[in-house]
Amino acid sequence: MNPTRNLLFCTLLFFSFSLSAQNSAGLTIRDTAGPQISRFIYGHFSEDLGRCIYDGFWTGDHIRMDVVEALKKIKVPVLRWPGGCFADMYHWRDAIGPREQRKHTVNTTWGMVTEDNSFGTHEFLQLCDLLGCQPYIAGNVGSGTPAEMADWLEYLNYNGKSTLADLRRHNGREQPWNVSFWGVGNESWGCGGSMTPEYYSGEYNRYSEFCRNYPGSSLKLIASGANGDDYNWTETVMKNISRGRTWGISMHYYTLAGSWQHKGSATQFSEDEYFRALAASLRMDEIVRRHSAIMDKYDPHKRMALVVDEWGIWTDVEPGTNGAFLYQQNSLRDALIAGTTLNIFNNHADRVKMANLAQTVNVLQALVLTDKDRMLLTPTYWVFDLYKVHQDARLLPVQFYTPDYAHGSEKIPAVNASASRDSGGAIHVSFVNLDPAKKITVRANLPGMTFKTVTGQVLTSAKFTDVNTFDEPNRVKPATFSGARKEGNDLVVELPAMSVVVLELK
Ligand code: AHR
Repeated sequence: MNPTRNLLFCTLLFFSFSLSAQNSAGLTIRDTAGPQISRFIYGHFSEDLGRCIYDGFWTGDHIRMDVVEALKKIKVPVLRWPGGCFADMYHWRDAIGPREQRKHTVNTTWGMVTEDNSFGTHEFLQLCDLLGCQPYIAGNVGSGTPAEMADWLEYLNYNGKSTLADLRRHNGREQPWNVSFWGVGNESWGCGGSMTPEYYSGEYNRYSEFCRNYPGSSLKLIASGANGDDYNWTETVMKNISRGRTWGISMHYYTLAGSWQHKGSATQFSEDEYFRALAASLRMDEIVRRHSAIMDKYDPHKRMALVVDEWGIWTDVEPGTNGAFLYQQNSLRDALIAGTTLNIFNNHADRVKMANLAQTVNVLQALVLTDKDRMLLTPTYWVFDLYKVHQDARLLPVQFYTPDYAHGSEKIPAVNASASRDSGGAIHVSFVNLDPAKKITVRANLPGMTFKTVTGQVLTSAKFTDVNTFDEPNRVKPATFSGARKEGNDLVVELPAMSVVVLELK
């Protein structure tokens, strides 16, 4: 280490040591306009799995408007469908036309249940229209053909005269939908066909060759990406695919408190599991950084997107529910994970242009849980509500020093944050304090920026295991935050233990 770096290192070490002793953190928010935080980072994923589509979005013969209204409030920008693993066994023709004539198929991936296919292409796109969001369709590479994929695109996007476009009209949709986001397979290294990255690259090139842009449509093709830290996948695919016709490459990373065999309960967990889950969620930063660095080699001007189109905490299912349906409760811990992960994505907005939390309703880290005609909003829902102010805003880069949250012999940074400036000039700062016991005071310096007022909201609760239930749906809910003040031109924030705080500076 050279002497200057050594001095800097010692100063930071001293600074963070004294901060940690005081339970205070320091933050500098720079006025250098960073990249735009794509609103699509705040996207979602809904698979034909368990009770996500059937029961969650679709009941009987209609879309649930209570769920739609709730999701509209958080400005869902994009919804991915029909999978997941299900996408690579989905044949779109099974689910168009009169519902009583649709095929009955077996969902062999998720519980061997019979699908009546009453929710198909038209229903999904109607759902997106109601939500006011962009559709993101994952096409079938694993068990499909390039012709089947090409036909689906013609059915969706062609405005002229053709048998497929006429079939769409016959089925009730005159105008093409101009679907843009298009996944070429899903998890092609696993459930999407057990391919090597070399083999997948060839398949991607073959399939994408036939994904045509019809007049008025502009496809954004997304290549199936890596499993977490499988950097070789990204390297090989980036090297071999036809990058010129590719909008992005995906990556999936799920947070586990334990192992894939023993994931742990969503509601009954110790501080040890709490700590492990948070530490696992923080790994997203390194994983995104390393995939981005590989992409930089092939795409130095960052034209391609890293699309984290599956993320979230994955726990054991709720006792007494179907193991293949992946129904889990959602606690304050999961809200802290959501806030932390969204801060990571914001801070990597130069490369992460879309992300999709798994899976919206009744599956994995859901925003909404339903029970017959009842519905509740989870703590994670409220994080997306608080963070919606970052959508399409300019990132303001932050540097911060934080005390650690130590547990046993291990430690993680207690506080994480991101900041942005919206088109109206307002600055928003989102903080997460992961420490379950300590309030942390943050002093933020905003060189070159002025503000007169600071307002905010906080999401916290008495215990990290706290959840919203159908009997008590408002236990974990945002409240007005009064712990932020202006001191000179600094911002001083008293972050409660285990909290998400989002501030607006004007
Ligand atoms: O989200 C559940 C499953 O996780 C998806 O179907 C698959 O893509 C991933 O392995």
